[in-house]
Amino acid sequence: MIVNPKDRINGEITVPGDKSISHRAVMLGSIAEGITEVTGFLMGADCLSTIECFRTLGIPIEVNDKKVTIHGKGLLGLAAPAKTLDVGNSGTTIRLMSGILSAQSFSSDLTGDASIQKRPMLRIVAPLREMGAKIDGKEGGKYCPLHIEGQPLKGIHYNLPVASAQVKSAMLFASLYAEGETIIIEPAPSRNHTEIMVNFFGGKIVHKDNVIISSPVKKLTGQYIEVPGDISSAAYFIAAALILPNSELLIKNVGVNPTRDGIITVFKQMGADIELLNQRTQCGEPVADILVRSSDLHGTEIGGSLIPKLIDEIPVIAAAACYAQGITIIKDAQELKVKESNRIQTMVSELKKMGASITETDDGMIIEGSHSLRGSEVESYHDHRVAMSLAIAALRAKGETRIHNSDCVNISFPDFFSYLEKL
Ligand code: S3P
Repeated sequence: MIVNPKDRINGEITVPGDKSISHRAVMLGSIAEGITEVTGFLMGADCLSTIECFRTLGIPIEVNDKKVTIHGKGLLGLAAPAKTLDVGNSGTTIRLMSGILSAQSFSSDLTGDASIQKRPMLRIVAPLREMGAKIDGKEGGKYCPLHIEGQPLKGIHYNLPVASAQVKSAMLFASLYAEGETIIIEPAPSRNHTEIMVNFFGGKIVHKDNVIISSPVKKLTGQYIEVPGDISSAAYFIAAALILPNSELLIKNVGVNPTRDGIITVFKQMGADIELLNQRTQCGEPVADILVRSSDLHGTEIGGSLIPKLIDEIPVIAAAACYAQGITIIKDAQELKVKESNRIQTMVSELKKMGASITETDDGMIIEGSHSLRGSEVESYHDHRVAMSLAIAALRAKGETRIHNSDCVNISFPDFFSYLEKL
């Protein structure tokens, strides 16, 4: 994709549905009784992989424009799959589904693309094994393909070693089937969409401070779910409006769950003019319209418990920080190394090609802002968030930027480039 600089971005948009919420709606809808209707569903490749996996498990799912209808068959209504479940590029699919599949009365195999086969699985395999799961994978369960032999499970008390919503959610899905309570202690709050949606479907998960207590359920009931826009997708346009002078952008109907809104906290810390309008709750999730105006950003320090609240937005924050006055330090973000690409390495190397003054550190990066970037040939490394973040950096660079392997935006935001073009 070729991206040329722009001097402003103006107007009103809505962004595609939240990826995390879309996955969870299919999963819970499949193991609930009766029909679940989902509007605003994200039709990105990752969420379509989740739909395909549940179809392979015998759940009828209709996809109609942005509406998905799931004919749930109850907690034990999934059928043994006739083939290996293919999660494509989706870490959320493989990790969360493993929790459900561990408790079934059949065996299953899960795999995905080259990137997913390199991503760590022991983080879910270890706690699921403690719950009684028979789950194995390559190198003793470090990597997929995973093989799961469904078993009766038991609730455990578990200290999460990393603040990961995927690990927490794999356990929470397993806990629905387990004997006794499952108690999870988080080192820092991570996205809580599973907790919210399980309760919305009739389950019982209680959250107090950093302790989550989940009780087994007898049944879940199909629901009507309205998925809000994904703040992780809105992030690209928020950043664009901030760094391009004379911009004013209204992004309507965005999920602003406090476990996901770190990007707003950080941009405000950097001097951003951002307002949340029309704040409301939709299916238990906080939602708002986000008004952004161009701002003179200054550098900041990002670390600690803020990291899980903006983990997917760090690439675009790095891009915006190149245009801020002064130094931005991102630390405690080692988790970036095990995303779709090593996002510390990939963002540092590609922004450097554009002339950024940016240094890789062991747990993040240091960016000296206020430098004007130059359009260059850059690589996405088949990582959707890297491709989109580089496109935002390119909007204020001098000259044209060519992003190689930009098709990967299909994973979370298939229309990303047409949105940019329209704006
Ligand atoms: C997600 C959790 C995060 C995030 C990913 C989606 C989820 O991963 O990076 O894009 O939907 O639970 P981790 O839990 O591995 O940090």
